[in-house]
Amino acid sequence: MTLVQLSRTRPVAAGSGAVHVAAAGELVDPQARRVQYLRLSLTDRCNYRCTYCMPEAGVEHRPRAELLTLEELGLLVRAFAAWGVERVRLTGGEPTMRQGLVDLVADLSDIRGARGRLRVVMTTNGSRLRELAGPLRAAGLAGLTVSIDSLRADRFAAITRRGELSEVLAGLDAAAVAGFVGVKINTVAVRGFNDDELGALALWAWERGHVPRFIEVMPMSGGRLFVPGELLPASEIRARVAEAAGAPLLADAGEGVRGLGPASYWRVSAGPHAGRLVGVIAAMTENFCASCNRLRVSATGQLHNCLARDDTGDLRSALRPHDPGLLAARVRAVLGHKQAGHEFHRDGRGGPNKAMISIGG
Ligand code: 5AD
Ligand code: SF4
Repeated sequence: MTLVQLSRTRPVAAGSGAVHVAAAGELVDPQARRVQYLRLSLTDRCNYRCTYCMPEAGVEHRPRAELLTLEELGLLVRAFAAWGVERVRLTGGEPTMRQGLVDLVADLSDIRGARGRLRVVMTTNGSRLRELAGPLRAAGLAGLTVSIDSLRADRFAAITRRGELSEVLAGLDAAAVAGFVGVKINTVAVRGFNDDELGALALWAWERGHVPRFIEVMPMSGGRLFVPGELLPASEIRARVAEAAGAPLLADAGEGVRGLGPASYWRVSAGPHAGRLVGVIAAMTENFCASCNRLRVSATGQLHNCLARDDTGDLRSALRPHDPGLLAARVRAVLGHKQAGHEFHRDGRGGPNKAMISIGG
């Protein structure tokens, strides 16, 4: 029995229309995709060492003086908002390792850009949410994504090397108390590690009002941490979730957030979990580059066109000292080289040399 009913078309015409309609001064790449969304790395440090992300030892960090200051981050994001960016996602490394995070969120959440008030969201490993969820919510953080690769404490400890599941679960409780709703749970699907748990993870997330999302492993770091056999294709991920839900998954146009991220969303069609959503981020088997609306900035102020490519342009020297004209010229120069898509191959070739930790996904 096949429980997944695949639609003939792409699940969602991501960002349909809006991506292509730009006002004067807004950022548009050579493929006519409009930049709506900035991913901003706040640090290249992390208190975890997830096996697919970082080596166990020998991780080098950039000196703190190289990081953009909170003031520089504020200037940078104001410029992007004026050019039509609507959403900023704070990433790392682990963004909660960054001193001054709550003040930064308050500052950025106050920004009104060309498209209205900026929406500031964050992806975190959840380890510090117990203390930070309340202050972050009060500062204006609009949404949270928390990474959980397993609900078994031993497996969680093994894949993160340093993490403790209970602290993340306590962090999620604190987030609920603080008023965060629809928290997204990111799970990297790894064959032979957590493939037997994907259904359970989805059920667990739904029960708590979270949105489960599953990510195909990608060959970052020159493919050095990539094990081809670990890739679990999105079609299999959906089949496992459908089996646990007891009903087919149908393509879903999402809940408004769709169009601003790489996930395709699928909805349980019937049964006790009818209506529940699951997201799949399938860079490897269901390329979503055509709807790419993102730019990324590393903690040191390098502008990256793509997660999967190594070309960058320096923005820090246009912020230190602040030169608005130079900043605008640098951003447009880099964007002018944005490629149509990535060249990830299922055998681990084609990815970038950079590590996920340096750019935050
Ligand atoms: N492939 C897929 N996802 C990854 N992440 C980190 N490294 C990889 C990789 N190589 C995930 C994290 C987090 C998100 C930002 O990216 O687990 O959920
Ligand atoms: Fe840290 Fe995220 Fe990398 Fe895990 S995936 S080591 S939590 S930055």
